[in-house]
Amino acid sequence: MVDGEIDEGSLGVGAIRARYLRAVPKDSKILICPSILSADFAHLAAAIDGVAEQTDWLHVDVMDGHFVPNLTIGAPVVKSLRAHTDAFLDCHLMMTNPEKFLADFAKAGASQCSVHVELGITTDLIVQCRDLGMRVGLVANPDAPFETFAEFLGDIDTMLLMTVFPGFGGQSFMPEVLPKIAATAAEIQRLAVSTVLQVDGGITVSTAPQCAHAGARAFVAGNAIFGALDPLRAASALRASVENELAGARS
Ligand code: DX5
Ligand code: ZN
Repeated sequence: MVDGEIDEGSLGVGAIRARYLRAVPKDSKILICPSILSADFAHLAAAIDGVAEQTDWLHVDVMDGHFVPNLTIGAPVVKSLRAHTDAFLDCHLMMTNPEKFLADFAKAGASQCSVHVELGITTDLIVQCRDLGMRVGLVANPDAPFETFAEFLGDIDTMLLMTVFPGFGGQSFMPEVLPKIAATAAEIQRLAVSTVLQVDGGITVSTAPQCAHAGARAFVAGNAIFGALDPLRAASALRASVENELAGARS
């Protein structure tokens, strides 16, 4: 069997989960997560292969036309990606009813599904993701106060703080989210949990270091990577911008 391919007949949920958990780089302090939303969908495989050397999680933006005013892709695309790569597939579900689709994403090979706290059914969604053997992320929009998600930080794998209002790639970073990033990082540290703090929206070589300084360790970037003339170089530059910031903060 090709590495990364799932034989659903012989692998139980537990085994599938163990497989994807192993895909999380344990030695990497920072995670560069290219958003395929900005890639050329007609050449998706080539696009992700082209940046694989410098990236960690593949960020898959699922938009339903209701939760956000835009429509993108769903589980069938995740299935195709999974057949092509063993990369960690980080699915950001911008949907009003993710509970109806989580099983489809799990079956398609999603490594993690991140759901929005604004839906108000966080506990149910966390339980459902876990039962399906996926890692679970929680997402908060720029205007969602820290108090709306703080209680879940110990129960999730990833906390994704939006640094734009979701719906479109290529928007400008909202620096007013930085204090919330710092508060969230401090709480994760206080709880002594390994929750990954991720940021998404307008992330560039200028804004990623600001987020890293505030405590973010996973960086979603669409336009800054796939909008660049040389996406691999752009991903490398993004990683370097964060590493330099963290090295500076240590010295
Ligand atoms: C926005 C999406 C983002 C988007 C990021 O709704 O959730 O993941 O693709 O794109 P950039 O990096 O271009 O802001
Ligand atoms: Zn996203």
